[in-house]
Amino acid sequence: MKKIFFSLFSALILCNAVLHAQGVKPSPQMKAYIDGLMKKMTLEEKIGQLNLPSAGDITTGQAKSSDIAKKIREGKVGGLFNVKTVAKIKEIQRVAVEESRLKIPLLFGMDVIHGYETVFPIPLGLSCTWNLEAIEQSARIAAIEASADGINWTFSPMVDIARDPRWGRIAEGSGEDPYLGAQIAKAMVMGYQGNLTDNTQILACVKHFALYGAAEAGRDYNTTDMSRVRMFNEYFPPYKAAVDAGVGSVMASFNEVDGIPATANKFLMTEVLRNLWGFKGFVVTDYTGINEMIDHGMGNLQEVSALALQAGIDMDMVGEGFLTTLASSLKEGKVTIQQIDHACRLILEAKYILGLFDNPYKYCNESRAKTDIYTAAHRKIARSIAAESFVLLKNQDDLLPLKKGGTIAVIGPLADNKRNMPGTWSVAANFDNAISVLTGIKEVAGTEANVLYAKGSFLDDDSLFEQRAGMFGKDFSRDGKTKQQLMDEALAVAARADVIIAAVGESSEMSGESSSRTNIDIPRAQKDLLEALLKTGKPVIMVMFTGRPLTIKWESENIPAILNVWFGGSEAGYAIADVLFGDVVPSGKLTSTFPQNIGQVPIYYAHKNTGRPLPEGKWFEKFRSNYLDVSNDPLYPFGYGLSYTTFSYSDVKLSSNKMSKSGKIMASVTVTNTGMLEGKEVVQLYIRDLVGSITRPVKELKGFQKINLKPGESKEVSFTITDEMLKFYNSDLKFVSEPGAFKVFIGGNSRDVKEASFQLY
Ligand code: BGC
Repeated sequence: MKKIFFSLFSALILCNAVLHAQGVKPSPQMKAYIDGLMKKMTLEEKIGQLNLPSAGDITTGQAKSSDIAKKIREGKVGGLFNVKTVAKIKEIQRVAVEESRLKIPLLFGMDVIHGYETVFPIPLGLSCTWNLEAIEQSARIAAIEASADGINWTFSPMVDIARDPRWGRIAEGSGEDPYLGAQIAKAMVMGYQGNLTDNTQILACVKHFALYGAAEAGRDYNTTDMSRVRMFNEYFPPYKAAVDAGVGSVMASFNEVDGIPATANKFLMTEVLRNLWGFKGFVVTDYTGINEMIDHGMGNLQEVSALALQAGIDMDMVGEGFLTTLASSLKEGKVTIQQIDHACRLILEAKYILGLFDNPYKYCNESRAKTDIYTAAHRKIARSIAAESFVLLKNQDDLLPLKKGGTIAVIGPLADNKRNMPGTWSVAANFDNAISVLTGIKEVAGTEANVLYAKGSFLDDDSLFEQRAGMFGKDFSRDGKTKQQLMDEALAVAARADVIIAAVGESSEMSGESSSRTNIDIPRAQKDLLEALLKTGKPVIMVMFTGRPLTIKWESENIPAILNVWFGGSEAGYAIADVLFGDVVPSGKLTSTFPQNIGQVPIYYAHKNTGRPLPEGKWFEKFRSNYLDVSNDPLYPFGYGLSYTTFSYSDVKLSSNKMSKSGKIMASVTVTNTGMLEGKEVVQLYIRDLVGSITRPVKELKGFQKINLKPGESKEVSFTITDEMLKFYNSDLKFVSEPGAFKVFIGGNSRDVKEASFQLY
């Protein structure tokens, strides 16, 4: 490809500078280049840039492939997604830059959500590490691997706040908290994009803008409706953090907001995203998001395509509404050429910033594909991050960690099930390489231990549910056995064991997209198994797989030890064994509240007080905000997670109990490791604004530090409180702080905290 305006080197320096500022930002050189290119483009070629087909078919079938290749030659494709391997991508890019009239390179996207072939824990699990460096590193490694295979654009991070565990996509985000979600959004954008100067850094796409996680009744794709005050304070912060971190693209969500689908929502796409937040990159729809507006009841394909463009959408994923209708809409005066030009320019700018005009094969280095993917170094990091994501929910009488010896029975439908380990959205994973719990335990325990196995139960008794929840039929096949046969085998194995590890919970397809549940218990068949195992009198450790908080009240009351392992990625089996045997001391903390029962949902720590709060220490009082049948408490609160050691917290010390708006104060505690093992603790800072012009949550996370302490060691942990941390969006949507009384809480979870107070003046 010819270098038209300036050398690769100067382009890269320039890109570096602009990207640091705010995503894909125009520069005079880029503008001149794109002006020149756009002058040569026909209307059809401009509209073609707005088209993003899925090329999944290219990897499998010929027919569709030649159809897409034809469109590429005709300049009717701006980017493709779902192509795997650098060789295929290189060939498709060759068609674009050698056989199309203007030789415009393509974007190649993929859902690289929590790793590429080296798979990290699902995002909900990752967030439980509370380790921003580790999270950034996981995104960095994902970018290194994806880019080595030809990908230059990932549809990640997914930052939708979710407070309803019925919604299966809670697995894909960072949980319920806007502050933590914002920190993670930023870390992931930095990990993927860096400064976008070299061929291991790829364009990120924050999604799903906006409020997708607030689907009514937790049913995927369902309606959302909320006040603007709530949007701005509780749901927008992670999207905004990604924009502030320079994310290059944004994906619109499927749901409606204020009665208008996000895909046609000018308030979201133009007023908030561009005018208020200054986003300079491009906006892509979600999969057929434009076409779905026909079913939303917004008009026919031509009408909804025009609505999307007018709202501020630049690229149409899969549905070809833009491709097939925008020219007519222009002719009929329903859209303007300026609108088409604007969208086209933003996509070309992204390609420019990625360096594709200088070198369309920048991401097509075939030797990197051999050396940089699924490497031993990446797998080692994935194993350690996975271990850090697990949350120890219960550990009665220090049952864990286990000794590497004796006879260990590993029982459960998820025990010998490697294909289930990577979790939802592991599109690039090689499932056959994943490490099951059984393999992990055998290898980490070594020859000292005698490890036995039985499947023990079906995933669920309801075979239809089991089918829907088990994408990989092979691992969940019933092998012609009855429930009783599986149970008998399990009990026979358990009888020979010193300790039982029950690997139970959800299959990976029970959470993720289109995997909502109204009952979030561990499936009945597995509960029956757990009950039978407990009756043996042997110690039972539940290793729980899940993509969401589950209702495990009975389990928490009856099973002595529970380790929640989410879906830990390709190395999960090893990581689980590392924690079970104490090679790694658990340090994960929940980022979404575990309810006692489904009726409490949505339940989250940063709730409002209401006018009739329940007096502290009570679980019911007539005419107060509570239930007759269950207390308001969660089963496990946000921020909760045990260790193999224990920590104590001193009282909170404030450097002053008064703070001016231009000043700051320090809040400190001394944390001591009071147990016998070295361990990590996530020290959490919460603040409550006691009086506001709008009602304020009873607690809001405002900071955290993850510290390491040796047995007996103490550390002082200090947080600086500034006016910025006390601000919120008031009813005029102004970001303000208000003078008055505040409470400061510090502790190891959102419930067990020490507190102090100060006044802002
Ligand atoms: C999902 C997106 C994803 C897209 C492309 C959609 O169904 O909602 O999160 O990026 O598909 O695969």
